[in-house]
Amino acid sequence: MSRVLVGVSGGIAAYKACELIRGLRTREHEVRVATTQNALRFVSSLTLQALSGHAVRSELFSLSQESEISHIELADWADVAIVAPATAGFLARIAHGMADDLLATICLALRAPLIVAPAMNVNMYRHPATQANLDVLAKRGVRIVGPDRGELACGWEGEGRLVAVEELLGAVEQALDPGTYQGEVVLVTAGPTAEAVDPVRVLTNRSSGKMGFALAEQAARRGAEVILVAGPVGLPTPYGVQRMNVESAAQMQQAVMDALDRATIVIMAAAVADYRVAERAREKIKRETQDVLTLELLRNPDILAELVPRKGGRTVVGFAAETERVLENARAKLERKGCDLIVANDVARQDTGFDVDRNAVWILGPGGNDVVEVPAAAKQEVAARILDRIRQVRDA
Ligand code: C5P
Repeated sequence: MSRVLVGVSGGIAAYKACELIRGLRTREHEVRVATTQNALRFVSSLTLQALSGHAVRSELFSLSQESEISHIELADWADVAIVAPATAGFLARIAHGMADDLLATICLALRAPLIVAPAMNVNMYRHPATQANLDVLAKRGVRIVGPDRGELACGWEGEGRLVAVEELLGAVEQALDPGTYQGEVVLVTAGPTAEAVDPVRVLTNRSSGKMGFALAEQAARRGAEVILVAGPVGLPTPYGVQRMNVESAAQMQQAVMDALDRATIVIMAAAVADYRVAERAREKIKRETQDVLTLELLRNPDILAELVPRKGGRTVVGFAAETERVLENARAKLERKGCDLIVANDVARQDTGFDVDRNAVWILGPGGNDVVEVPAAAKQEVAARILDRIRQVRDA
């Protein structure tokens, strides 16, 4: 858990700061909010307070606000600060080291990493003054995220949109990164696979992909190059991650084998379908033609088991989703598949496991006797603990 200072300046995208704060809290970061006066014309102090769990600071010379936490204390408190949205005017002020309002003053006093996420009209963004200010900030080590291209609230089309919240979250976590995965290439599989029955129907499972995506994101933020082989899920691609979308187990196997040479660590978090339909119907199967439909299923290749003999110096991590005798089954799986670590989770529990944002796992080490328990926490936090363990095993 880290301390994140969220700065909000006065643009139409200010409402997205609410989602950013929520996302940071979900990932169990502590959040404090400081805004410009104009930001509060777009989003209320009450909303920001309710989401962050703390009073919001917006005035430099407010005795009541200063008595709760002074602007210097706030700057010292932060492990990282992010200003989203950062307007053209705000960027100009901090580029020139001005201390004419609370947020700019905090930025001047800040020693932690600062991230800014510009959002403005495309012409304001392209203006040489704004570009020069961004240059100055970048040279000074400020991290600049975005903007994205697209339709803008002002009616223009082009660069100027605030980047997606996921990208902001990724940038925050990357800034907090101790860099322990620098030089590693991490291959992660995530999500379910979908095995076609006919052109419209598939056989699939309840995996949401959230655990695998969290692992990919956390590995990227620790400095790894990450290749994410994703089954059909609607999740956004984490910041800095290279994604390959696949549908079937066969496609997943191909994608994994293609990327294997480059990988130093392989994490198989996908819930691969065990069977595929022997013969996929060319046309949509009509219900009028048959009362009982029998599908012949063939066993899919076990990607993990086939990969282990080729693993060389790589660290290979499997997952075991179990509904009973979790540790016992996971231990047997570790043995049978020959991977370095197995992450076991009890998917019979309602509050953790499949398709929810939290998880609780056991990480079984080499030999199966060495078990690290990770109690229920946000999947991002669980992913961080799994990566800590992988690092230990690789460094041992
Ligand atoms: O045997 P079981 O399906 O429980 O094993 C789970 C582990 O094996 C997971 O890491 C999963 O990604 C991997 N697996 C695989 N190919 C399959 C089935 C599972 O790589 N066909």
